Amino acid sequence: MQVALDEIINRYKSGSRESLLPLLQDIQIEYGYLNEEAILKVGKHIKLPSSKVYGIATFYDQFRFIPKGKFHIKVCRGTSCHMHGSSGILREVERVLNIKEGHTSRDGRFSLEAVSCMGACGSAPVLNVNGEFKTALSIPDIAQVIDFYRSSI
Ligand code: FES
Repeated sequence: MQVALDEIINRYKSGSRESLLPLLQDIQIEYGYLNEEAILKVGKHIKLPSSKVYGIATFYDQFRFIPKGKFHIKVCRGTSCHMHGSSGILREVERVLNIKEGHTSRDGRFSLEAVSCMGACGSAPVLNVNGEFKTALSIPDIAQVIDFYRSSI
């Protein structure tokens, strides 16, 4: 069961600006992203204008502002994966899903994120779908990988 937004916020002292990042992290862990309500309530709680909360949150790559898809695809862009063509893999995933990195498909089925090293460098280039690794990929593999998840819905 999901923890209520107010309950997460109230774990932190009111007016404590140092709490901003851990608070946003906790909300994102629980909900998967930060919505407008969360930004407004956090701002009110720590006594910082919501525009500033949003500005700070957008500065960090780790925060998302739209919900993840049913299948969340992470494409590694760490050094080893980069050396093995992860840029092409990312472009191909974007092409097949018709969404850009950082976005979620309109039907809510897929979301795409480029991430740093996922610790599977020996099998580069890799991507990860809801925690499941797909390794040593080549561009022609991508459509097949995505079709597999499309057909499992
Ligand atoms: S660089 Fe991609 S898994 Fe390490």
